[in-house]
Amino acid sequence: MNSRNRLSPRAGPVPNSRLRVEPFLPDAGSHANVTTSSIKSPLPMALISAINQRYSALAESTCCLLCGGAADRSYAQLGEVAVDIGSGRGQDALRLAEAVGPTGHVYGVDVAEGMLEKARRMAEKLGVTNLEFRRSEIEKLDLPDQVADLVTSNCTMNHAADKSAAWAEVYRILKPGGRFVVSDIYALHEVPVSFRSDPKAVAECWAGAVERELYLETLSACGFSDIEVLEESAPYKKGAIEVASFTVSGQKVGCCCCG
Ligand SMILES: C[S@@+](CC[C@H](N)C(=O)[O-])C[C@H]1O[C@@H](n2cnc3c(N)ncnc32)[C@H](O)[C@@H]1O
Repeated sequence: MNSRNRLSPRAGPVPNSRLRVEPFLPDAGSHANVTTSSIKSPLPMALISAINQRYSALAESTCCLLCGGAADRSYAQLGEVAVDIGSGRGQDALRLAEAVGPTGHVYGVDVAEGMLEKARRMAEKLGVTNLEFRRSEIEKLDLPDQVADLVTSNCTMNHAADKSAAWAEVYRILKPGGRFVVSDIYALHEVPVSFRSDPKAVAECWAGAVERELYLETLSACGFSDIEVLEESAPYKKGAIEVASFTVSGQKVGCCCCG
């Protein structure tokens, strides 16, 4: 790995309001058929509704929703506990469940009911028992502290209304010494606020993107160490902006009293 891609942890919050989206416009009722009352939401309901609607509709499709090889590059080991955030139709979670084996465990987390139904059906059909799917938001994961050896995610973190809160949750659920491997998109230029505050555009997986430097600074500010960019695409157009995809890994520093 090129050393220029390796970053060291930096203390303190990233003082940038662009990590948090602007208040969304009130939901105009177009998502009235979507049930969102079953989870306690720290996010604007309009965003959760837009995500639920878009991704529940895509649950039965075969379209590719990946933006990198996070699961492949995570090298999950037998006996590990892994969490896949934004688990979608569950393919990565199923592969992780196979890798960690019967002595390990995998949690898939998603907010779209249609995706969760599809993923649970697949796991049941395949008789996979070391895997469970939970409905929860990235910013408020329904998981205990320090439960995971490994966190993976593919094309999901960009949807977070509050990026720092989402990454703080990754940090919270990781055991000391645990690692994350995440594929996501970043924006080539600052995304105009009119797009960033549009729930539909954020749900479409482009308007919530932040610039590369800001993305990596957020990880660093959360306390992660050994941050590495493992792969990166050429820029491409998505929605109304230019983005690139990358896969990033990092580690939660082990406890100082263990050395
Ligand atoms: C682009 S899809 C990727 C799905 C899956 N990781 C894959 O690679 O096929 C993004 C997934 O993240 C979920 N998601 C988006 N925003 C979320 C949020 N705030 N909380 C939880 N899940 C979210 C969506 O429901 C969707 O299943």
